[in-house]
Order: sequence, then C-alpha cells, then structure tokens
Amino acid sequence: MTKIISITNQKGGVGKTTTTINLATAMVAINKRALIVDADPQGNASTGIGIKEDERSPSLYDLISKNLFKESAIKKTLIPNLDIIPSTIDLAASEVELANIENREGRIKNILDKIIGYDFIFIDCPPALGLLTINSLVASNSVIVPLQCEFFALEGLSSLVKTINAIQDGFNKSLEIEGVVLTMHDKRNSLSDLVERDVRNHFGSKVYKTIIPRNVRISEAPSHGKPALVYDISCLGSKAYIELAKEVIFNQ
Ligand SMILES: Nc1ncnc2c1ncn2[C@@H]1O[C@H](COP(=O)(O)OP(=O)(O)OP(=O)(O)O)[C@@H](O)[C@H]1O
Ligand SMILES: [Mg+2]
Repeated sequence: MTKIISITNQKGGVGKTTTTINLATAMVAINKRALIVDADPQGNASTGIGIKEDERSPSLYDLISKNLFKESAIKKTLIPNLDIIPSTIDLAASEVELANIENREGRIKNILDKIIGYDFIFIDCPPALGLLTINSLVASNSVIVPLQCEFFALEGLSSLVKTINAIQDGFNKSLEIEGVVLTMHDKRNSLSDLVERDVRNHFGSKVYKTIIPRNVRISEAPSHGKPALVYDISCLGSKAYIELAKEVIFNQ
C-alpha cells in the first residue's frame, strides 16, 4: 500500500518544499521507498533535489495535459529509493487549461493510480488553492500542513480547512489531515513559542511534537541540489526531519 500525502499551505514560503524534500529523504533513510511529485510550477522541489532543467521531460505538466501516465516521467535522484516526477514552469498553464475540461480535479489522481512500488508519495503543492492543489488533495490519502512560526501563521488556514472539507464532501471522502508541522522555529525569538502555543491550542494532537528549527544548513542545501539530510546529516534541521519521519510513521 502506498500512502499519498500532500504537503499543503496556500501561504508562500512556509516550508512546504523543504518539508517535502527532507521528509521524503528521512523516510528513505529509515528504509522506506518514496516518490516526490513536484506539483508547483516554480519547480523548487525538482531543483532542490538536483534535477536539472533539461532533465525534466516528460514533466508533470506533460502527464496532466495528455492525461496519460508515462514511466519515463519518474526520475531517479542521487538518493537510492527516492524518485521524483519533476515540474517545469509549463505547469502554470495547467491551472488555465484544466479549467474547462472534464475530470479537471482528477488528473493527478489518474496518474498516481498507475504508480506502484512506493511506501510514500509526497506531493509538493504550490502556494495557492487552485486546481493543482485541488488535484493534489483529490489524489491524496492525507495532508501535512507546514506552519511557519511567525505572527500570521494561522492566517488563511480557515480557507485551507474549508477546501479540505469541500474535497471530503465531494471527490475524496477519506482525505485526512495527517498533521501540522511547525517550521522555522527560532528559539531566540519568544514569538516562536507564542505561535507554537496558539497552533497547539487550535489543532491539538494534530500538531507534531517535532518542531523544525530555523537552521542555516537547511536553507543552504537546495543551492547544492541536495536534501539537507545529505548536505549535512548532523545539523539540527536534518535531525528534526528524521524525528518528524518517525512520528509520521508511528501515527500510521
Ligand atoms: N527550517 C528552516 N530553516 C531555515 N530556512 C528554512 C527552513 N525551512 C525553509 N527555509 C527556507 O525558507 C524559504 C522558504 O521555504 P520553502 O521553499 O520550503 O517554502 P515553500 O512553502 O515551499 O515556499 P513556496 O510557497 O514558494 O513554494 C527557502 O529559502 C528555504 O530554504
Ligand atoms: Mg515550495
């Protein structure tokens, strides 16, 4: 059985891509097989895992627009047992192209239904609640929501929860909130603790005990085309993502 998890928050820059890459890598480090689906036209997950622009064909866009799965869209990464379906800027066109077609919410699901051989598929969503995010949620078993430890962390979350509820009522009854993960926590900043308290009050046991610290090694890693876990396995950020992976598995 493959568990498909969307990493979603329509707010930009909260740590979706960082969480996708490093949680997937941490899963592989504990002997799971993982696939990343880069559902963001920015292509940050593809770049961050070292897939060059000219190695991205066919990309997620090609699969979505042709409504056809091709094995060749699955690319190997430098990490054994971690693969990716990359994205390119073309994917931005899907939001428009999908708008007027049949089964516009189910294209990513159709693709992922044909993929076997992974314990986890992580979908890196774009910072919007458009058709790409809806497609991702329709295709998923559950959602992990990264929340940045900053003042407006909870802002906009009601729209995300409404979208999740609408998808539960319509296309995907079994969609669950897997968990909420606090990211970029700064222990020198008392605001981080206040935000943590607020988020735990709001989401209760859905909030992971593991908190991802703000860590410079995490922010350096993507420019080397490597997960932080490969760039510096011993940094605090890498250790936190391994703890998070254990927690996600423990909760299955
Ligand atoms: N724990 C962390 N410590 C330090 N920097 C971090 C951490 N997590 C993420 N970052 C940095 O913050 C920025 C935003 O992170 P990321 O790209 O993962 O967010 P995102 O939610 O995917 O953004 P977008 O909405 O644009 O897709 C990046 O430059 C990333 O390297
Ligand atoms: Mg991103």
